[in-house]
Amino acid sequence: MKTAKSKLEPLQAPDPRLPTLSIVRQSTLSERLWGIEWRRHLPPSCQDGILIERSNFSEMVQFAQAHFGEIFGRKEHSLFLKGGQSSAKKIFCETNSDFFSFLSTHKTVGMFSGNATDWESYYIRSISFLKSYQHRGIYQAFLGHLLSVLKENGVKRVDIHIAPNNPVSLYIHLKHGFLISGSVLSENWGVMTQLTKFLDHNSQLVFESQFCTSSWNPIQKLR
Ligand SMILES: CC(C)(COP(=O)(O)OP(=O)(O)OC[C@H]1O[C@@H](n2cnc3c(N)ncnc32)[C@H](O)[C@@H]1OP(=O)(O)O)[C@@H](O)C(=O)NCCC(=O)NCCS
Repeated sequence: MKTAKSKLEPLQAPDPRLPTLSIVRQSTLSERLWGIEWRRHLPPSCQDGILIERSNFSEMVQFAQAHFGEIFGRKEHSLFLKGGQSSAKKIFCETNSDFFSFLSTHKTVGMFSGNATDWESYYIRSISFLKSYQHRGIYQAFLGHLLSVLKENGVKRVDIHIAPNNPVSLYIHLKHGFLISGSVLSENWGVMTQLTKFLDHNSQLVFESQFCTSSWNPIQKLR
């Protein structure tokens, strides 16, 4: 009697041209999609001699646990969920996100995380500095580099979600040419204002012609 032919494809030998799993694990989604080498592209230091280094998810978690209470001053009795740690979050962040730490004499004074959200978009997930390192121009120096690296490597837009009562972050991103592109409501963060920086000139033209009724240019006005 003939046996039914299996519908499963036979296992194939790995394609030697593809990166091995260990290489894939070490690189982040932005490196894999756009070939960005953050070590080469980012300056080793920015404002005030602060060093910028590649970092990782566990250092981000340590920094958040130690300092987010003071930095963000979260309300004790918030109605919103805290969105805790999960193994899926850890895997997602470890295999996709870019983490950078800002160091002053070996002490971590700030952390950044961001990730590609699709083949042409980048999301700034988190940026924070210890209070004593805020308002020294560190983030704006870094942001300028970040945006030019992303642009040079073909990224078309960068998104960030900012609380409507965070004037410093709103101001900085508007000053650097981000436009308000929406509001996001969530059970974790309440209402967030979405800002988008169009790195592609045509994308910005379409956005402005479709959604903005005046030709006022916020970037020029703020400078
Ligand atoms: C927001 C944050 C990341 C910015 O980093 P930073 O290194 O302090 O920012 P910079 O020093 O580069 O720039 C600060 C700007 O805000 C301006 N600023 C300061 N206080 C302000 C206020 N109350 N309202 C508006 N702008 C203000 C400063 O004048 C400066 O602008 P300028 O260069 O045009 O003069 C940092 O302040 C921080 O960690 N804040 C707490 C966490 C946070 O809010 N993260 C962002 C979440 S979206």
